[in-house]
Amino acid sequence: QIIDAEGMMVLPGFIDSHVHFRDPGGTHKEDFLSGTQAALAGGVTTILDMPNTQPPTNSREHLQEKKALAAQKAVVDYGFYFGATDTNIEEAAAVADQVAAMKLYMGSSTGSLLVTEFSPIYRHFSTFPLDKPIVVHAEDEQSLIYFGAQGSTEHNRARPPLSAQIALSRALAIAEKVGRALHIAHTTTQRELELIQEARNKGVRVTCEVTPLHLFLTEDDQQRLGNFGKVNPPLRSKSDQAALWRYFDVIDTIGTDHAPHTKEEKMQPYQKAPSGMTGVQTMLPLLFNAAQEGKVEPGEIIKRCVVNPARIFGLKDKGALEVGKDADIVLIDPQQVYEITNEKIVSKCGWTPFAGTKVKGKIQQVFVRGKLAFEHDTCLAQPGNGRHVHYAYHHSLYA
Ligand code: DOR
Ligand code: ZN
Ligand code: ZN
Repeated sequence: QIIDAEGMMVLPGFIDSHVHFRDPGGTHKEDFLSGTQAALAGGVTTILDMPNTQPPTNSREHLQEKKALAAQKAVVDYGFYFGATDTNIEEAAAVADQVAAMKLYMGSSTGSLLVTEFSPIYRHFSTFPLDKPIVVHAEDEQSLIYFGAQGSTEHNRARPPLSAQIALSRALAIAEKVGRALHIAHTTTQRELELIQEARNKGVRVTCEVTPLHLFLTEDDQQRLGNFGKVNPPLRSKSDQAALWRYFDVIDTIGTDHAPHTKEEKMQPYQKAPSGMTGVQTMLPLLFNAAQEGKVEPGEIIKRCVVNPARIFGLKDKGALEVGKDADIVLIDPQQVYEITNEKIVSKCGWTPFAGTKVKGKIQQVFVRGKLAFEHDTCLAQPGNGRHVHYAYHHSLYA
């Protein structure tokens, strides 16, 4: 088919390697249909879904159930994480070829997946195929308790970056010892990026992610957003935010940590309100706008939102506008100003921390594997059009 792209910019479809679509068990917040429709509206044509659902994706059986749900509902392509527990070491390794990666929570967040002790962490790190990454939520549970995160009303101050550095250091040390691929989710501070760079220089196979939340929001925004700005890890200071941009070279992927919770849930008292914000629909517009403002080269965004996620997670048909790759394409009008509003949020929960933000660049059309899937702010793809990605063991970006 011939596409009239006059005046448009042509981008490869983005890969969001960090979403929480809540299916099964939390489908009042999101499901595979609403989540992938939100992705499509945001120019994201592939998503990797996190395992902290109900039940968690922590067994072969739960993985099969989740696969069936996505196959019925998804409108973009998808892959899965397998969630580590204290005991599912062999099972995780046995299903590794059916998932993009393992997710291991060293600090607690939404859901019940948590592995804090040395022995199961070490066994997962050495048993899961070494070339397939383990993605770590690196906040240290012990120091979270020590610093009073549980029960504190001052979320940010109660959770100093130290908790992340302790968990991160443990993960790096074990990854070095066993020689495995490690991917650090949502880094938020300069110190974490320094530790990662230092480890990488020593040959540790570590890559890392940053979220648009931490690139574009700070604890000042948290004042304004209240519970709606509550997230793990928390929004940080202006100087931490500046460090993420200064150390942009060290960052391999940008993933949204799209973690929808309803307005009602967020409006509970602070301690009860769950952590997390939406993001899958706003990543591309925000980053494209940052490129238009000269804050970052467009190619550096494509690297972190398309090329690197495909390599790190072994998504062999994805990754760029290249012969032999899927024709996942986004056409964006670079001149049109677009205001992000809660009304435009396709996610079931219907809100975004970026409401009121104006960006330059409006997504006009999105193609998934060559088929027009989104146009005129409307999803044309049918539930079930999305496919499970094909995995291949990745080529390490380093070492
Ligand atoms: O704020 C967060 N929300 N951080 C996480 O790690 C999990 C997520 C969720 O699933 O709600
Ligand atoms: Zn996390
Ligand atoms: Zn997450």
